[in-house]
Amino acid sequence: MTTGKLIIFDTTLRDGEQSPGASMTKDEKLRIARQLERLKVDVIEAGFPASSNGDFEAVAAIARVIKDCTVAGLSRANDKDIQRCIDALKGAKSWRVHTFLATSELHMKMKLRMTPDQVFEQAKLAVKFARNACPDVEFSPEDASRSDIDFLCRVLEAVIQEGATTINIPDTVGYAVPEQYGELIRKLREKIPNSDKAVWSVHCHNDLGMAVANSLAAVRIGGARQIECTMNGLGERAGNTSLEEVVMALRTRKDFFNLETRIDTTQIVPASRLVSQITGFVVQPNKAVVGANAFAHASGIHQDGVIKARETYEIMTAEDVGWAANKIVLGKLSGRTAFKQRLKELGVELESDDGYNKAFVRFKELADKKAEIFDEDLLALVAQEAGIASDEVWSLVSMSQGSGTSDKPHATIVMKQNGKDVKAESKGDGPVDAIFKAIESVAKSGAELLLFSVNAVTQGTESQGEVTVRLSKGGRIVNGVGADTDIVVASAKAYISALNKIESKVERVNPQYQARH
Ligand code: KIV
Ligand code: ZN
Repeated sequence: MTTGKLIIFDTTLRDGEQSPGASMTKDEKLRIARQLERLKVDVIEAGFPASSNGDFEAVAAIARVIKDCTVAGLSRANDKDIQRCIDALKGAKSWRVHTFLATSELHMKMKLRMTPDQVFEQAKLAVKFARNACPDVEFSPEDASRSDIDFLCRVLEAVIQEGATTINIPDTVGYAVPEQYGELIRKLREKIPNSDKAVWSVHCHNDLGMAVANSLAAVRIGGARQIECTMNGLGERAGNTSLEEVVMALRTRKDFFNLETRIDTTQIVPASRLVSQITGFVVQPNKAVVGANAFAHASGIHQDGVIKARETYEIMTAEDVGWAANKIVLGKLSGRTAFKQRLKELGVELESDDGYNKAFVRFKELADKKAEIFDEDLLALVAQEAGIASDEVWSLVSMSQGSGTSDKPHATIVMKQNGKDVKAESKGDGPVDAIFKAIESVAKSGAELLLFSVNAVTQGTESQGEVTVRLSKGGRIVNGVGADTDIVVASAKAYISALNKIESKVERVNPQYQARH
């Protein structure tokens, strides 16, 4: 039996970024794109260039550096958006324009305020316009799983006629169930006369927890040959299909699916960690494949079984997906070359010598406080370094805090504001509350604190704490991440990092906000 190929289309940087609070800077996107290239996804959807100048720049930068994956950009179905997408992508070795327009009655009537005939014409014009500039064009009828099948057939036949090379069927609101969705893809391919001229793709949301099951049913029942997915299942609302889950399901159950992907599965855990560190979206411990407990056997019976024969309770190995045992890698006496070499082995490339020098200074500071430095410490350090923009308004100079059973917690901080030292102090309900109040007393951002979370980077009490702070102001939600052996210092760093993002005032449009022209 010959094995078929399945295309993995990663949309962490576009749909994933639409999760409230997951917005990323250009440098952060570049780091994730490089890791996705090491992971060997086929397509990286790098962003939505018409949404903001920042996203345009990020997509253009990714298009310039990525050589081993196709780089895609999303655009609404109008010439202006599509042209912006083309301009951002055209430096790439291999590139794709992905354009979309809603086809369900509800979306056409209530959101687009267009008739089905107008949608039909606009979809055709959009694909034609994109195809004139780019040989690789994907079309998505948004809310396809709630669209009338005859109307879908009419639109899809026409856009394939105009040259669409991939047809993607989104379950935009996570409404589908596996058998029905698989059947939908099968019927579309059967009814549309020119369906064999395009690759059929699926894009599922996880509102009912069925995104992975729906994607796999579309492959198995419907014959889809591209799955759109994100690392850690990041995405709008409840997220998208998890890349790690579909890839490992296809690989572990190859006997059933008989399909292969190009993915280097040993890069899955590093990719998951990087996305989690950058976005501040913590991976739940019991998450399949990438959760901290995914390969931990707690019960005596299971442990005994695994020791006797691993296969008794394990269907894949931790090493297959890139879990490595905590390793002491560097210490106080390690030099610049060893530091750079270890980062290289971890797949981390910093933009410039200056970036390495700054990270090395922070590494030495950390090694003074912590005798054993693990890979996880290095990744946390680099994540933090990369989160510091060159034009930041605020930076931490020094801080101290005091608390105890009888003292009211209090904190003092010195920060630089645009290069000038400012000092603040405050009391609070706890040491973290005191330091946040001290920072706010001078920053006066008025931002609302949506999330404060602390995670140990490695095991043991000597571990660094990695803190995520999510702030909201004027409809914008941003994340700041900070790491330190002292969790109050880590908290201050995370708060300051989030404040700097609030100050950066990047405005972006959500793709689902549909402008007609
Ligand atoms: O969920 C959705 O419909 C989308 C499309 C733009 C593909 O993300
Ligand atoms: Zn989506």
